[in-house]
Amino acid sequence: MQIIRDPKELQKQCLKWRQEGLTIGLVPTMGFFHDGHLALMKRARPECDKLVVTLFVNPTQFGENEDLDKYPHDFEGDRAKAESQGTDILFAPAPDAMYHPDHATWIDVPELGQHLCGSARPGHFRGVCTVVTKLFMLTQPDLAVFGQKDWQQLAIIRRMVRDLDIPVKLIGHEIIREADGLAMSSRNAYLTEEERAAAPGIRQGLQKAADKVVSGERNPDAVKKFLKDEFSAAIPMSTVDYIEVVDPEAIVPVDEITVPVLVAVAVQVGKARLIDNLLIEV
Ligand code: PAJ
Repeated sequence: MQIIRDPKELQKQCLKWRQEGLTIGLVPTMGFFHDGHLALMKRARPECDKLVVTLFVNPTQFGENEDLDKYPHDFEGDRAKAESQGTDILFAPAPDAMYHPDHATWIDVPELGQHLCGSARPGHFRGVCTVVTKLFMLTQPDLAVFGQKDWQQLAIIRRMVRDLDIPVKLIGHEIIREADGLAMSSRNAYLTEEERAAAPGIRQGLQKAADKVVSGERNPDAVKKFLKDEFSAAIPMSTVDYIEVVDPEAIVPVDEITVPVLVAVAVQVGKARLIDNLLIEV
């Protein structure tokens, strides 16, 4: 596995591969790999000749008071894990290698960013779309894999790829969870023992909410109230950032539940802001 730090070197290598007729798969990440990240690499590996994994804690998608400076990292661990999945290039640029000091071009899909993390983290998806576009331009991938844990991120990238005719096949991967149901996240590392023990309440609440919908609940406000009460009982140290019942593609709240529908939540548990979601299809 090759480690590349320089964006231009990455682009040169990928263009060379394309000229040779080789296909490229891309898995963008911010590192501190867990089994969710590795699942994306596993999914891409058999579908491409060359697998590029990127590790970049993208400053432009973090708000002023967010955890950019504290974001967990373990480069040696990540290097070994990426290599174990058959990665050909691990691209890990220095923070200032990706943006010129006078960077002035932004990609944004504001319509899909009005709710959930879009409203909770202003500017977040503009940073995500811009860096993902840059990574697409640097690697020219045939396919790219993203996780459904960040459902809104995937929906926004899908729309961006469609609207800008970017020639990449997007693959959405299901959420990988710990044995007790907690969605894997690099940010789970922030949890204390007590918080970690309570955090599976997020998934349990979502499942109970889905059961209510399946048994006929059509009122999104009732589902939201139910989840709020569930979270305060199961995770007493948590504060709810948002609980929403939205259209899975348009990412706007629904007035009345018809399937498919997405229940999406963000909950602050101690220092960790945890997100999770559940798609209800039947
Ligand atoms: P990061 O949070 O590191 O996630 C990288 C990829 O892994 C994303 O596509 C995310 O959805 C996926 N992922 C994370 N946890 C997962 C889980 N438990 N199950 C399945 N997939 C999971 O998302 C980002 O980085 C950044 O915004 C990025 C796209 C790299 C742009 O900077």
